[in-house]
Amino acid sequence: MGSLDGRVAIITGAGRGIGRAHALLLAAEGAAVVVNDLGGDNEGSGADAGPAQQVVEEIIAAGGRAVADTANIAEWAGAQGLVERAISTFGGLDVLVNNAGILRDAFIATMDEAQWDSVIAVHLKGHFAVLHHAAAYWKDQSKAGKQVAASVINTASASGTFMPNPGQANYGAAKAGIAAMTQVAALELERYGVRANAIAPVARTRLTLATPGMGAMFAEEVPDGEFDAFAPENISPIVGYLAQEKCPITGKVFAVQGGAISVLNGWTAAQTIETAGPWELADLADRLPELG
Ligand SMILES: NC(=O)c1ccc[n+]([C@@H]2O[C@H](COP(=O)([O-])OP(=O)(O)OC[C@H]3O[C@@H](n4cnc5c(N)ncnc54)[C@H](O)[C@@H]3O)[C@@H](O)[C@H]2O)c1
Repeated sequence: MGSLDGRVAIITGAGRGIGRAHALLLAAEGAAVVVNDLGGDNEGSGADAGPAQQVVEEIIAAGGRAVADTANIAEWAGAQGLVERAISTFGGLDVLVNNAGILRDAFIATMDEAQWDSVIAVHLKGHFAVLHHAAAYWKDQSKAGKQVAASVINTASASGTFMPNPGQANYGAAKAGIAAMTQVAALELERYGVRANAIAPVARTRLTLATPGMGAMFAEEVPDGEFDAFAPENISPIVGYLAQEKCPITGKVFAVQGGAISVLNGWTAAQTIETAGPWELADLADRLPELG
């Protein structure tokens, strides 16, 4: 008996890195998995059916159920086709793990339009597009009187939440948007039986190995028998738990690294200053420092 027996899961960007680890764990726990991956390079250029297919073969060799999908989730029709593939192949959809991602780092003064647009497209639109088509399916199911107990797990990042990273205006903006969208989704979709949470992971993958200033830390050898705190597999257990039918958690963003899981608090109003009427500019100069 697996904790996800009978559940159908889509995992985007599951051909490599963290998404691959999610796919292997969810399948080992009994979920039928749609392994989506476009197979492009770190910056999202190119396409290769190999990574998605290899993960499917690994899952099937281990006795699990999986099918490959090579759609570009940044495209509306690709996202729709992905959701339809889960339904037509496995008879439904219970879990959506939005994970696909790319990086095109540059400082704001030198970032060009394509670097901005492509990162926003893959992360922010890519999350929304698949979420939209999945939500429409769950809404129809719920309206038809079926019992929906679905789970969405989005992928945010330290960059964009608690650790703003110079050089990642595009990526940070997309990831902050994903964290905010997760909270909206949790509120909107509850009525259809859908929960939504997000993770902000840290792990050794091709993306982090190529990140200036971080690659060396991730590339350090881990002696045999010691806990490999940067292994992508460390990120997947919380995803496996959030995916379960009986998990009650919704609307949360969790930072996950090695054996540590933290819950993140979003923007909150801290100190407040107030006047009885409109502010005078001169008064603001005196009073704003009170806010720290
Ligand atoms: N590795 C980390 O420490 C870290 C930190 C914070 C956030 N993340 C996030 O975790 C997620 C996974 O990243 P990773 O580190 O495993 O990287 P990765 O490059 O190993 O895996 C990402 C996968 O997404 C696929 N992909 C990219 N664009 C796609 C598209 N348009 N359609 C379908 N598939 C597409 C790629 O082909 C790749 O296989 C990303 O959203 C990333 O931003 C990772």
